[in-house]
Amino acid sequence: MTAPAAILKTSHLLGIQGLSVEEISDLLDLADSYVALNRAAEKKSAVLKGRTIINLFFEASTRTQSSFELAGKRLGADVLNMSVRTSSVSKGETLLDTAATLNAMRPDILIVRHYDSGAAELLSHKLDCSVVNAGDGSHEHPTQALLDALTILRRRGGFEGLIVAICGDVLHSRVARSNIHLLSKLGARVRLVAPKTLLPANAERFGVEIFTDMREGLAGADIVMMLRLQLERMAGAFIPSTREYFHFYGLDHEKLALAKPGALVMHPGPMNRGVEIDSAVADDIEVSLIQEQVEMGVAMRMAVLDALARGIASGGRNT
Ligand code: CP
Repeated sequence: MTAPAAILKTSHLLGIQGLSVEEISDLLDLADSYVALNRAAEKKSAVLKGRTIINLFFEASTRTQSSFELAGKRLGADVLNMSVRTSSVSKGETLLDTAATLNAMRPDILIVRHYDSGAAELLSHKLDCSVVNAGDGSHEHPTQALLDALTILRRRGGFEGLIVAICGDVLHSRVARSNIHLLSKLGARVRLVAPKTLLPANAERFGVEIFTDMREGLAGADIVMMLRLQLERMAGAFIPSTREYFHFYGLDHEKLALAKPGALVMHPGPMNRGVEIDSAVADDIEVSLIQEQVEMGVAMRMAVLDALARGIASGGRNT
């Protein structure tokens, strides 16, 4: 039997910035093929049979951790969810020592979320298993952008010329950074819509259009991607109050009406209802893709694990 074709050029997935358009397109194709498996009564494949995956999350997660776990199990891998809170991290063990200890148990893939930007990349240089970045500080969250792209692709059929307005707390958002890189690579026109205090310095360097007036930023948009106000990452006051923030930057049906007719709404979750998004929009199945994004998350993470395993199969662990 011939081995499946390699998809990724490296044995890690650390960010969108380092991926080529071809790698992204191949991941999207592979993930699309897993959607049907996830919708079938029998959801098992043996693609990762015999492989070991460890989830190591230093920050809270509902969607990313559970979908990586399901993705690994549906592909036949053994999946260990490391409970950081009850691990020896609480006795002062460092990130590197924790990861090296787990690495000695010979996992094939380590999926890591950490509050420091660059944590996943650091581990990729120190360990001999594949490392997946499941979110590092405010740097990148590559699988979120990939699942967002899969969701858009299945609804809109392509990206060329699509206007995507990314709205809200761009400054603290790793989701925004990964999406800016990915959507720009695929030919979409990206707008950032936020108050000045929640935009990164020199945001124009990303090759995007900047709007501080949400009504102007939404005009003619095909996709409105809302971001969570990340209060836990804010040292000091970035907004006068959440009530005022909702008035100017919260998405409700009145503001959404300014976007292109048929515009679709996305949010990576978790949502702050009534802060960045009105429940009437979030729960409106005519416009909201939020639950679909979660579904696509499992398929995309299956594709990522499959793609990494293909590299492992051809080259062994990165020893
Ligand atoms: N979108 C996202 O990363 O959600 P979780 O924090 O629940 O994983």
